Amino acid sequence: MFLSYRKEKRPQWPADPTLPIPTEMDHTQSHFDIAFSVPFVHRLRFTRDLWDREEQVLLDLLVAPPGRPVRAQFWLDEGLSECHPQLKQRIWRLARRDGALELAGPVQWIPAGEASKNDVHLLERILKVIHEHDLDRQSYIVAVGGGAVLDVVGFAAAIAHRGIRLVRVPTTTLSQADSGVGVKNGINLFQKKNWLGAFAVPWGVINDYAMLETLSDRDFRAGFSEAVKVALLKDAPFFEGLARRARCIAERDSEASAWAIRQSALWHLRHITAGGDPFEMTEARPLDFGHWSAHRLESLSEFTLRHGEAVAIGVAIDTIYSVLRHGLLMSEGRSVLQCLRDLGFSLQHPLLETAREDLFAGLEEFRQHLGGRLTVTMLEAVGKPINVHEIDRTIMNEAIDRVLEFALVSDD
Ligand SMILES: NC(=O)c1ccc[n+]([C@@H]2O[C@H](COP(=O)([O-])OP(=O)(O)OC[C@H]3O[C@@H](n4cnc5c(N)ncnc54)[C@H](O)[C@@H]3O)[C@@H](O)[C@H]2O)c1
Ligand SMILES: [Zn+2]
Repeated sequence: MFLSYRKEKRPQWPADPTLPIPTEMDHTQSHFDIAFSVPFVHRLRFTRDLWDREEQVLLDLLVAPPGRPVRAQFWLDEGLSECHPQLKQRIWRLARRDGALELAGPVQWIPAGEASKNDVHLLERILKVIHEHDLDRQSYIVAVGGGAVLDVVGFAAAIAHRGIRLVRVPTTTLSQADSGVGVKNGINLFQKKNWLGAFAVPWGVINDYAMLETLSDRDFRAGFSEAVKVALLKDAPFFEGLARRARCIAERDSEASAWAIRQSALWHLRHITAGGDPFEMTEARPLDFGHWSAHRLESLSEFTLRHGEAVAIGVAIDTIYSVLRHGLLMSEGRSVLQCLRDLGFSLQHPLLETAREDLFAGLEEFRQHLGGRLTVTMLEAVGKPINVHEIDRTIMNEAIDRVLEFALVSDD
């Protein structure tokens, strides 16, 4: 008789490895709910000179199938073309030097930033190129760029042949601190963020610090709001360290910045590999603290706000809401806003005054994305998140007002 989980609402995890196999046909049982688990390996590397002295790190990640060379197709963020003009040649040189690496077609460029996620035809173009060069499930797609480019190329890799191995080389602070190690890929559709997408564990991720040196101050700053977010959720001492170093990070001190990115990436990685719900099958999206308003602000601003900038505002709002509604100490709330300000974020945006109702529609979008009850993560204390299922609009309005007051005083 098979072991049955019929009384359970959801199969238990991990599976029982000793599941008995029946020795003869058994026609009496018609329902079989068998929990099973699939082992994944998540490979994260940190380098400081990937395209020269440390290129072996990339080669070591690309394992050749038996009897064949490694085939890899490279997709680069167009935003890198001017500040890293040598990148394409470096990739060719790598392939020439290493006989075991075969480039599957020319190195490809992808339009920079959110535009790449807003154009569904681009996805089709990527799929066509993958098809034309006969990539298979033992081939690699190497995506080099910011979070937007990684999301769209990653999505194409996830659905072509039901999954081609993806190596991400994130080149922004945001993608190194957060999305690079993530398991989500996707594009925007129906004017909704990440409406179309897939979960897929990347084959490998390489965070190269040198790539970050060419970022504008604006994009350099953007990723640290995700570091603040994950610190608030997971690790109070990490948040204190961030708050202490915030001004150095704003001045692009490489030691402080590399430390923050590394801690943030490792916390995101730990959440995915040990948090118990990497593919967000339950009703919570615990890493999306501050994101219900952030996603809405991004689309309402027609993506003139960067994701990281919107997250800074969203984290500030939900932090103050947590103070007003869930017992977070005002002193902690203030230090969160101060930390974001010291990192260089502006915590105000005209939409916070003019589009409150539209902003609140973000809550419904957030609920719809997972289905079921609205579940938003708030803070009882730094490092102590709670899931709540309703938002008091009067209190939320007051939280937004208080963030605006803080921003007005501090931006002067
Ligand atoms: N999949 C996930 O889990 C996840 C998590 C968080 C955010 N995201 C997504 O990531 C996106 C934001 O990513 P982002 O903040 O990296 O922004 P981005 O991808 O829009 O990049 C910002 C700009 O920096 C340029 N750029 C990239 N690398 C550069 C470099 N080294 N030097 C100079 N310029 C460079 C890009 O061309 C672009 O113009 C959003 O779409 C967001 O939804 C996804
Ligand atoms: Zn985010």
